[in-house]
Amino acid sequence: MISIKSQREIEGMYESGQLLARIHEALRDFIKTGITTHDIDQFVHTMITENGGIAAQIGYEDYPYATCISVNDAMCHGFPTHDKLKDGDLVKVDFCIDLRGFLSDSCWAYSVGTPSDAVRKLMEVTEKALYLGIEQAQIGNRAGDIGHVMDTYVKQFGYNMSLEFSGHGLGPTIHEPPMIPFVGKPHTGARLKEGMVITIEPIVNVGSPYATLDDNGWTARTTDGSLSCQYEHTLVITKEGPRILTLQK
Ligand code: MF3
Ligand code: CO
Repeated sequence: MISIKSQREIEGMYESGQLLARIHEALRDFIKTGITTHDIDQFVHTMITENGGIAAQIGYEDYPYATCISVNDAMCHGFPTHDKLKDGDLVKVDFCIDLRGFLSDSCWAYSVGTPSDAVRKLMEVTEKALYLGIEQAQIGNRAGDIGHVMDTYVKQFGYNMSLEFSGHGLGPTIHEPPMIPFVGKPHTGARLKEGMVITIEPIVNVGSPYATLDDNGWTARTTDGSLSCQYEHTLVITKEGPRILTLQK
């Protein structure tokens, strides 16, 4: 069932989202050549717990880590590892926080050292797609409107949206209806209503839109090894338009 959040729930999710945003802001300086994605996972986990939160992804459908960290061709659900990050890597850090019972979910992309032109362009287009999608998160619009604008935008650059993942409703669990597709037809899908909390989280690939899973059963990589990028916000539908709960400074 698609839930409509009360004002109290929305403020709780905003507090949770703001803790999440502060952690992403801290990662801007923390992520550099030579550290491992395990170091990033520990940094995030420590910041969540020191601020009274719970790393909500641990144990969710048996996922074992606080964060999903997906490097280069990894699209999503990357496991933290002890491999060192190298100059030019594209790192996506995705995690959910439970703060006093209220969830938030946001993925952000970081480049390590000096990004190549290919990495810089892909990051720029993916972030822009996210905000174009968010503009469509208006009362009366439908989920397909969001996917349609995001997909149409990235296609102009020859990129492909991942066809196997999507955004989602958030709360009381991490994945709730409605599904918020990355690709969609206008005027199709769930109708958006005041008080719905959803994520918009485009995964944009330079090449193949399809994924293969690693042996760990989670990590999705592009079938052709091409670069993949993702940004994600949690937002609430309001009369004044979308309000981003995980907005960073
Ligand atoms: N943050 C992820 C998302 O955007 C959650 C993945 S589920 C997990 O949907 F189990 F991997 F945590
Ligand atoms: Co999500």
